[in-house]
Parts: sequence; structure tokens; C-alpha cells
Amino acid sequence: MSTAGLDNLTLARKEGWQQFVDAPARTRPELLSRKQIRALGDQARASYDRSRREWHANLGPLRTPQLAELHDDLWDIVDSNAHDGDKAKGAVAIDAFPGLGKTTSVLAFAKRFHLREIAEHGSLTSEGHERWPVCRVGLTGNTGLKDFNRAMLEFFAHPGIGRGTASQYATRALDCMVSCHVRLLIVDDLHFLRWRANSGVEISNHFKYIANEYPVTLIFIGVGLARRGLLDEADAASDPVLAQIGRRTTRLGMGPFLVDNAVHRRQWRAILPAIEQRLVLADARPGMLADDLSDYLFARSTGHIGSLMTLINRGCQWAVRIGAERLDQTVLDSVKNDAAAENGRRELEAAFTARRLTTAITSPAAGARRRAATS
Ligand SMILES: Nc1ncnc2c1ncn2[C@@H]1O[C@H](COP(=O)(O)OP(=O)(O)O)[C@@H](O)[C@H]1O
Ligand SMILES: [Mg+2]
Repeated sequence: MSTAGLDNLTLARKEGWQQFVDAPARTRPELLSRKQIRALGDQARASYDRSRREWHANLGPLRTPQLAELHDDLWDIVDSNAHDGDKAKGAVAIDAFPGLGKTTSVLAFAKRFHLREIAEHGSLTSEGHERWPVCRVGLTGNTGLKDFNRAMLEFFAHPGIGRGTASQYATRALDCMVSCHVRLLIVDDLHFLRWRANSGVEISNHFKYIANEYPVTLIFIGVGLARRGLLDEADAASDPVLAQIGRRTTRLGMGPFLVDNAVHRRQWRAILPAIEQRLVLADARPGMLADDLSDYLFARSTGHIGSLMTLINRGCQWAVRIGAERLDQTVLDSVKNDAAAENGRRELEAAFTARRLTTAITSPAAGARRRAATS
């Protein structure tokens, strides 16, 4: 069976989705002191370090302000769609650069939505079908509309996946959605859908058809969706089909952390203790990130949650491996981050050094006044 064009093979099937939804929260490994770690036998030590490796590689999701805001917006839209009766449902497009937490945040939302629907309505529909409140399709590479329709079908492990036309796949998939009472259809990395000059209308029509005929809220996730014509007002002006889908689609963005004003700096500073509390390193102490490494971490991550979590994860792996058992600049200097973050880093570091920028809660101007007053 072809799985080309699908991203996460576990979540590509409803059984995998069920596992994701039911997965118990990971248990945090016990925090041992250096002395206790030294006292472990070889095997116990290896297993302790393995559990810490897995733990540090899966910190999260943290309730960042970006995630919290997105969830509030999604609840509003999804819940208001529930009262619309026969009317076409509004769609949502989450349009932002990679590494800002789109997938993580939407999956966390979808998990809560799934659990709420099952808790309220039961795991079987009134007709006795399994209830699947969420269907999620993630695309990679260059996926055509037919592959997309087949991917929806694949989520339900439908036997009719072997052969058919694009529209037969669509019909079967949408029949599944009706019988399973799917309420959210999530299309992740929609920008991978092949979007030729003349297929834009075909694709828009397809989603419009889904939104019109089926009681699902479409959640599109992608990079540069507006540019690709899904939400493009320029195209929409000349094309009534695009105009219609554009008008019913609420565009939500997600941004990086910023340090341009006191509110933003406070948000950045608040996320660091939340991470600190989760680390399982013998010599970690409060303030290790939030006080000592705030500027440094901002410069290295450029405020992107993906880059920040990669850095923390790699730093922890390294700190365990070399026995440093804490994060500091020396440890973090020896781990690499993604290229985009590394490029942004140099400029930010220069700005921090020149005191044009700070992550301190007091403003740079106040800092400058204070320095002037005390010198
Ligand atoms: N709220 C969060 N808490 C912890 N880690 C996060 C959070 N959001 C994103 N991440 C981490 O950042 C990385 C990128 O996030 P992802 O959701 O894949 O971004 P996007 O879909 O926008 O490219 C992931 O590895 C994820 O673990
Ligand atoms: Mg993603």
C-alpha cells in the first residue's frame, strides 16, 4: 500500500490517532543527585540515562502564549460551527513559518477535542459506528489531489483504497467521515499539495465542496498559504470560487517569541522556568535558564520554539553524556542548532552585546538610565 506523500505514519491511521489520544502522560524520571547517580550499577545507570534521553527529547507541549491563543481561537471557531446546522462550516488556515509550533499546537487541540467529543457523546455513534471526531492528514513532498483523497481514506483503513478515481476516493472518504461523525478535518502541511497554475481552482472547489456538504470544520496548516492562492485576495477578486473559500476561512498566524517590549519579554522569561522545571539533571537549579541564559537562549533560538526545544534537548543529552549535569553556556556552545537559527543568532548576539536588545524585564532605556545614574 502506498504511503508516499504522508508525513507521520503513526498518525496517518485512526489506530495511531487513538494511541496518540490515549497515551498517558510520560512519567518523569526521578531526579537523582550526583552521588546517587555514581552509586548506580552499570545497568541501572544505562537505564536511568536512557529514560532521561527519552524524557528530554519529549518535553512538552508547553503552554506557550502562542499555543494558548491558538487554542482559544480554535475553540471559538469549532464551537460556533457546531451551532450552524446546515450552513457551510467556516474553515481555519494556520499560516506560519516552520518551527513555530503549528503542528504541535493543533495536535494538542485536536486531542482535547477528540476526548471532549467522546466524553460527551460516547465512543459509538447512534447508528453504532465508531466515533472519530478528528481525521488528520499530513502531507509531504509533492502530493496530488488524488493522493490527498486516498490519504483521507487511508486514515479509516478503508478497503476501497486499492483502486479508484480521485472523486471515488473522495466520496468513500467523506462517507466514512459522515458515519464516524468526524467534526474536524486537519490537513497538515497543505503547501505540499501540488498547486499548479490551473489546479488552484480545482483544489479550492474540492475543499469548498467538503465544507459545503459535510459537517466538518477544515483546519489547514501550512507555510505561505495566502501566497499560494487559498486565501489570496488578489486571486479571489477575479475568481468567485476562491473568493468564497477565502471569505469563509479564518486565517490564524503563529509568531516567534519577541523581546521588543516588556509584555513580550515577560512572555519569553516565563517560558524558561517552565522548561527548567522539567529538566532531570543532577546539578540543575532554579534560574539556570531564566536568569543566566535568557539572552543567550533567545539569540540562539531567535525566539522560535522549535529551535529553542532542539537546543534544550541536545544540551540535555550532552550534559548527561559528559557528566556536566547542568545547562550552561559551555555545554550549549558545543551543541548545534538548525541553520536558520544559527544565522539569526549572530545578529541577535551583536545586538545583545551592544545593549540594543535585552530579554531583561526592565526596558533597555531604564537599564541605561540606571547605569548612567550609578556610574
Ligand atoms: N508548545 C510547545 N512546547 C514544547 N515544544 C514545542 C511546542 N511547540 C513546538 N514545540 C517543538 O518545536 C518543534 C517544532 O514544532 P512544530 O509543531 O513541528 O512546528 P511547525 O509545525 O510550525 O513546523 C517540535 O519539535 C516541537 O517539539
Ligand atoms: Mg508542522
